[in-house]
Amino acid sequence: MATEVERDRDYALGEVRRQAAGCQNCPLWEIGTQTVFGVGPASAMLMLIGEAPGYQEDQQGMPFVGPAGRLLDDALAQAGIDREDIYVTNTVKHRPWVPGGRQGKNRPPKQNEINACRPWLEQELAIVRPQIVGCLGAIAAKWILGRDFKLSQQRGRWLSSDVAPHVLATIHPSYVLIQPSDSRDRCRNTFFADLRLIGQKLTELERRAA
Ligand code: URA
Repeated sequence: MATEVERDRDYALGEVRRQAAGCQNCPLWEIGTQTVFGVGPASAMLMLIGEAPGYQEDQQGMPFVGPAGRLLDDALAQAGIDREDIYVTNTVKHRPWVPGGRQGKNRPPKQNEINACRPWLEQELAIVRPQIVGCLGAIAAKWILGRDFKLSQQRGRWLSSDVAPHVLATIHPSYVLIQPSDSRDRCRNTFFADLRLIGQKLTELERRAA
C-alpha cells in the first residue's frame, strides 16, 4: 500500500500535470492535440527522458506509445525493467511538427520551445527525485548534462548531475528506426546494451535500498 508521503508526491505530480495541460508557454500548443505529460509513479527510482511527442503520443496523450515507444518497450523488457515502475517523460511536452503527409512530419524542438517547457521537467524531477536518469537522445542529454555534452563521445557512460546521482545517455529509439538496414542492427544493439546498463544499475540500487 502507498504511504502517505508517496500519495502526497503522486498528488503533487497530478497537480503539475493539470497545470501543464493548459500550457501556452510556446506556440506549439496551437498545433498540438494536447500536452503529453510524463507517466509513472512519483516514487520511481528511474526516470527516462525523451525528446518530444510524435504523432501517436500527441493523439493519445502519453509518451512513447508509437513506433519509438515499441522499440523502447522491447529494450526495457530485455533489460528486465518494468515500465510500470518507472517514470517516462519528454523534454518538450507538445509535438513539434510541420505539415506533410497524412500525420504531419515530426521535427526537432527548437531551443525556445525547450526553454519554454523547462519548468515542467524541472518540477517532474523535483517531485520524483529519481536515483537514475536515462536520457534518450542528445536533446534530453544536453538538458540534463549541459550544452557541451556530446552523445557521440559520452553515450553509455555513467555520469552524475544535480538532478540525479546516476545519469546515462543513450541514442534515441527513433534514431535506431531511421537507420539504413546495414547499420540498424548495430545501432539497435547499442541502444539495447545501454538500457541493460540502466537495468543493472536499477537492480543494484533496489537491492541496496531493500
Ligand atoms: N519520441 C520521443 O522523444 N518521445 C516520445 O514520446 C515519442 C517519440
